[in-house]
Amino acid sequence: MRSTVGWQVDGSSSALRRTPLKRRDLRPDDLAVRVDYCGVCHSDLHAVAAQGGAGSRPLVPGHEFTGVVTETGPAVTRFTAGDSVAVGNIVDSCGVCAMCRAGQENFCHSLPTLTYGGTDRHDGSTTLGGYSREYVVRDRFAHTLPAALDPAAAAPLLCAGITVWEPLHALGVGPGTRVAVAGLGGLGHLAVKIAVALGADTSVISRSPDKIGDARRLGARGLIVSTDPEQMAAARDRFDVVVDTISAPHDLGPYLRLVALDGTLSHLGHLGPVTVETLDLLVGRRKLSSAGSGGRPATAAMLDFCAQHGITADVEVLPSARVNEALGRLRRNDVRYRFVLDMSDLDLATIE
Ligand SMILES: NC(=O)c1ccc[n+]([C@@H]2O[C@H](COP(=O)([O-])OP(=O)(O)OC[C@H]3O[C@@H](n4cnc5c(N)ncnc54)[C@H](OP(=O)(O)O)[C@@H]3O)[C@@H](O)[C@H]2O)c1
Ligand SMILES: [Zn+2]
Ligand SMILES: [Zn+2]
Repeated sequence: MRSTVGWQVDGSSSALRRTPLKRRDLRPDDLAVRVDYCGVCHSDLHAVAAQGGAGSRPLVPGHEFTGVVTETGPAVTRFTAGDSVAVGNIVDSCGVCAMCRAGQENFCHSLPTLTYGGTDRHDGSTTLGGYSREYVVRDRFAHTLPAALDPAAAAPLLCAGITVWEPLHALGVGPGTRVAVAGLGGLGHLAVKIAVALGADTSVISRSPDKIGDARRLGARGLIVSTDPEQMAAARDRFDVVVDTISAPHDLGPYLRLVALDGTLSHLGHLGPVTVETLDLLVGRRKLSSAGSGGRPATAAMLDFCAQHGITADVEVLPSARVNEALGRLRRNDVRYRFVLDMSDLDLATIE
């Protein structure tokens, strides 16, 4: 086994602690990656909150990171040591089911292996995420990081970016499509940037009126305040696509009613059961959809598109030792718009 260091929560407390970690020895098709930057996704907060107290499996979050290849297994041909790479929220899949054959490894029939909290397909171990100085990943699930992209600001593209890219693409968003993005956070601000770059007429729906300046700077035409019934009523039937990235459970009705005839509400945020008033679907033949993560071809296309259009996340980079502060501020909606942890401090500090 290989030794590294990362930020782990073990159920005895909700704080992440600096902990020595083991990584597997390289299989023939594995890469060892020095993790330089890892984004802090709201899903990491959900995962930490779901830790079941003492006795729960230790958790190392982090599933959007960039870094440099340090070593390759003998069967690896696409990468060599020194290459800049990016890794997202899936790190393996069966490779043979219809979804995998269609390049939708994110929907693998036997479930893709998640970057953390997943079960390795070969040795059954629990995967540990990117809040760590080293990650060992199967070469198929490492992506070349385009040289045009800043490695810190690009890290969030690998979860937040691809999660909004796939539905925008699948729903045919392009010049003139009327798009609204609900929830201006990590996913939301990238959805705005990508929709605008695709040529869409893009608006933001937010409970935070003070984000209007940011919404305009990101290229949106304006911001609809979700807590203002008059503004919501005035926007009825106005959008071909509404992308919902809200991180808390909420009533979908007010957002469905903004969808135009035959349009779609793509629900990407807080996952889990929802109740829908079918009249909100009946009126206007509206569609309700969802998506999550992305396949390998879409991830490569998203990275190319972002490199061409100069799209990265708006990030606040913190030394990884401030991870608990980052999670606390994310919980309070106090980030514009993504924390990224700089993992280089893990080389320096002593292990507790
Ligand atoms: N489908 C997937 O595969 C996938 C992938 C990644 C993340 N996710 C999920 O997507 C959600 C968003 O993630 P994120 O990293 O973008 O989170 P984030 O940065 O915290 O952004 C979420 C935004 O939702 C809005 N919001 C938060 N609480 C709200 C509430 N109680 N009522 C109304 N609006 C609220 C806020 O925007 P305003 O201030 O503008 O209202 C906030 O900025 C999370 O639940 C995450 O787990 C899903
Ligand atoms: Zn994520
Ligand atoms: Zn599969």
